[in-house]
Amino acid sequence: MPQFRIAPSILSANFAKLGEEVDNVLASGADIVHFDVMDNHYVPNLTIGPLVCEALRKHGVTAPIDVHLMVKPVDRIVPDFAKAGATYITFHPEASEHIDRTIGLIREAGCKPGLVFNPATPLDVLEYTLDKIDMVLLMSVNPGFGGQKFIPYVLDKARRVRQMIDSRGLDVSLEIDGGVGPANILEVAQAGVDTFVAGSAVFGKRNEADPNRYDSIIGQMRAELAKA
Ligand code: DX5
Ligand code: ZN
Repeated sequence: MPQFRIAPSILSANFAKLGEEVDNVLASGADIVHFDVMDNHYVPNLTIGPLVCEALRKHGVTAPIDVHLMVKPVDRIVPDFAKAGATYITFHPEASEHIDRTIGLIREAGCKPGLVFNPATPLDVLEYTLDKIDMVLLMSVNPGFGGQKFIPYVLDKARRVRQMIDSRGLDVSLEIDGGVGPANILEVAQAGVDTFVAGSAVFGKRNEADPNRYDSIIGQMRAELAKA
């Protein structure tokens, strides 16, 4: 069985007590913190920046932080996120004029670079970049908001990326983002995905007995993954 990782998107957490929410979701079995950065320019919403990433590190979060940049331009903000403690920094290729340079900037800053593809964005840039990145992130909704419906044709795209990674023998994570929950996580895993972002599915479903815990929903997702 491949190593599956669950990455709750803090976009759906309670921002008024974000440190606690992140602690709670990690203590409930999550592997990675998915950190959605929106700029009201590349996407029509505005969220959090490097100061919040740094605050989570200062709060004591040691898990990988997976910074998903939905910003344009990209390069200006990369060093700030590196300093703030980002582990992965992923960006949308169409938001950068010079994709190779941006990947290099992220790597030089000490972070793991990744490329993000919107549902209808073709994968052609992977031809020259797949061996230079640590993560491919496939959007299974149009970026900008949590709580949207999973777009099923992205499963075919996932199978194609998995095939590209395996046929070249590369160690690249394949992550999916948007509309993932216990009802479809198995199907997504079977398409070759190893890292699963889930925002509303996780943060919208606190344990019944303890509203500070998310073990039950994360456990349900892991039980589905165990069937893969
Ligand atoms: C959307 C974000 C996602 C979002 C996913 O632009 O990139 O990470 O939080 O939320 P759900 O899991 O609710 O679809
Ligand atoms: Zn995201």
